[in-house]
Amino acid sequence: MEQARQTDLAVFIQGLPKVELHLHIEGSLEPELMFELARRNGVTLPYDSVEEIRAAYQFANLQEFLDLYYQGMAVLRTRQDFHDLTRAYLERVAQDNVRHVEIFFDPQGHTERGVPFTDVIEGILDALAEGERDLGISSGLVLSILRHLPEEDALKTLEAALPYRDRLLGLGLDSSEVGHPPSKFIRVFEKARDLGLKVMAHAGEEGPPAYLWEALDLLKVDRVDHGNRSLEDPALVARLVTEGMTLTVCPLSNLKLRVVNDLTKHPLKSMLDLGLKVTVNSDDPSYFGGTIGENYRAVAQALDLGRDDLAQLARNGIEGAFSTPERKAALLDELNAHLTTS
Ligand code: HPA
Ligand code: ZN
Repeated sequence: MEQARQTDLAVFIQGLPKVELHLHIEGSLEPELMFELARRNGVTLPYDSVEEIRAAYQFANLQEFLDLYYQGMAVLRTRQDFHDLTRAYLERVAQDNVRHVEIFFDPQGHTERGVPFTDVIEGILDALAEGERDLGISSGLVLSILRHLPEEDALKTLEAALPYRDRLLGLGLDSSEVGHPPSKFIRVFEKARDLGLKVMAHAGEEGPPAYLWEALDLLKVDRVDHGNRSLEDPALVARLVTEGMTLTVCPLSNLKLRVVNDLTKHPLKSMLDLGLKVTVNSDDPSYFGGTIGENYRAVAQALDLGRDDLAQLARNGIEGAFSTPERKAALLDELNAHLTTS
């Protein structure tokens, strides 16, 4: 009986039309492709096998992950590499019935290694266009700023992106959170807002609630990435609920980076019950052990989520997307069709 219920729920989750709003494309680099690109580009990796790479993915905190993440992305050198990376991600999530994605890329992680900005963004955009055409996955691209670097670098990066303004959805903020508060980036976020870009920031993953307040008040973010630590501050929760602010939560990432010790202790269900607009995302699927579909399955089981909770999570993803009203309405129709037929 219990097993039948689990199978039922797995089928229900598979069929949910999903939206992924928190995905670092460089974090979708699977060890197999890492090896292939290293060979293609003559880059030497400090590993002898795919198994050795996977075994190295044990992290005590965000920084330990970031060190390997920056090391891994060094195999990405050409426009073709960025295309192949993005195409592989889209083909994988198509199997999870992902219908729309808004993905981050970290140009500073590439331009500082001598890879031209144009090659990075054109390669990703090529694959996103193919994903729309071949897989029916709509998408947006978010330029993410590395917060451990000075704001001057961020401003130069935004400048380099100006020719692509119309093909960019937004500006994000990632990398080492503690010690690099949102207030460090007021000018670059103001510039992005003036350009009409959507703005979002990683906040409250490891950083304190004060960083979330700063993201709201100083960066004027349209969406919050992670936001787990908002729960420590009831006034902050009230503000996020009142504003209907979307929080892009990443359960398996939180487990791997020890933001939570155990998935059964993950705050996702409490956040839903408080009325926060939380969504489920994979963050860096190749490093954290699962796609968005696997994140849905893992939280459903660990937190004993039912169909209503899961449908709400999928709905929050659609509503929190920065897509056109027509696309969002079409995705809500898909969701409602799934709910009435299963
Ligand atoms: N947090 C902060 N920066 C990041 C992450 C993350 O989970 N993934 C890639 N860059
Ligand atoms: Zn992230």
